[in-house]
Amino acid sequence: MRDVAIIGVSQTKFGELWEASLRQLIAEAGLSAIEDANIQGDDIGAMYVGNMTAGLFIQQEHIASLIADHTGLNPIPCTRVEAACASGGLALRQGIMAVASGYHDIVISAGVEKMTDVVDPTPAIATASDQEWEAKVGATFPSLYAMMARRHMYEYGTTREQLAMFSVINHENGSKNPRAQFPFKITVDQVLNSSKVADPLRLLDCSPVTDGAAAIVLAPAEEAHKYSDTPIYVKASAQASGTIALHDRQDITTIDSTKIAAKKAYEMADLTSEDIDTVEVHDCFSINGILAIEDLGFVEKGEGGKAIEEGMTQNGGKIPVNPSGGLKSRGHPLGATGIAQTAEIVWQLRGEAGKRQVEGAEIGMTHNIGGTGGTAAIHILSR
Ligand SMILES: CC(C)(COP(=O)(O)OP(=O)(O)OC[C@H]1O[C@@H](n2cnc3c(N)ncnc32)[C@H](O)[C@@H]1OP(=O)(O)O)[C@@H](O)C(=O)NCCC(=O)NCCS
Repeated sequence: MRDVAIIGVSQTKFGELWEASLRQLIAEAGLSAIEDANIQGDDIGAMYVGNMTAGLFIQQEHIASLIADHTGLNPIPCTRVEAACASGGLALRQGIMAVASGYHDIVISAGVEKMTDVVDPTPAIATASDQEWEAKVGATFPSLYAMMARRHMYEYGTTREQLAMFSVINHENGSKNPRAQFPFKITVDQVLNSSKVADPLRLLDCSPVTDGAAAIVLAPAEEAHKYSDTPIYVKASAQASGTIALHDRQDITTIDSTKIAAKKAYEMADLTSEDIDTVEVHDCFSINGILAIEDLGFVEKGEGGKAIEEGMTQNGGKIPVNPSGGLKSRGHPLGATGIAQTAEIVWQLRGEAGKRQVEGAEIGMTHNIGGTGGTAAIHILSR
């Protein structure tokens, strides 16, 4: 197996983008990543594109062909990767394995979602839960995560304010990110007084519905300096599955797939949570940010809420979490999220994150999950 490096990254502006179609978004992200990597279209051996549900959002399947065609890269092998909100993380992993194995040299891993063209996106998003046992009896993702939040509050004394603070810190970071959907600060009071979505979760605990795309260019590590002065190295790529339905879990305050993938990633990189300088976690709802820092090993089980309150996850704290603004403030275009998280960590490790730079960041992590944790993808990157 060869070592793999990231030589180019990009992310479009995230938000409600009426003027851009799915094909335009992915082309914009791809071209910017190609430019960033100093390569030509002809250099690219293969593309992997994370996308959860173009069929339901824009009634377009077969988007790998659409993307290869629209970007002028035919007859390139282009493959769509789907694992709900972890589609991007898995597209990255497929790209890494293709380069590591020697099957391809230069590979693009990208992600795209166009979610705002439908009147009600909730049923489309709910297709990532267990249809027979969850979605068809009315469960939605906000309601499933609300149950996880309730249980965490009951078991560990996590407070409503601590959940709110996770969103407040995300927005503080996101206010410095020009690509974020909601680049503004919010207060705990605003979170607590925002409209109720699924008790105890309110509007400002929830990631939004988002259009956007992101792309990454991968190359064999030994050739990376040919293209980039600041290649970023892939130290670990790990994936795990968990039960798709919540009721099949022993404990709904822990996401086993996160824990298992994290353990594999730390082993692969020969590192521990103590070595990570910054992390992008999958905070589709504020409670999931708290579960993530526990399951990734940054704090003990049940201590997540307290750690947020004490400022441990702020930029400048012991482990800065979501310097990009996270899913809450940067936005959450499902299939693009895992790639956007990785782009942010690359900018952080290159020292190119501007006002949201985590000083001295040398090792970073991304945590991308699908559904309530049926899939988890974790990557560790280093300068
Ligand atoms: C939380 C949610 C239900 C709100 O949807 P909604 O009630 O239809 O909200 P609207 O789109 O009508 O927006 C109302 C306002 O709130 C804003 N808004 C919507 N969602 C927001 C969010 N998550 N955070 C901050 N502001 C938000 C909108 O910009 C709009 O502002 P405006 O009136 O100034 O234009 C929706 O964003 C949602 O479903 N989020 C979760 C997505 C999800 O499940 N992802 C997968 C996770 S596993």
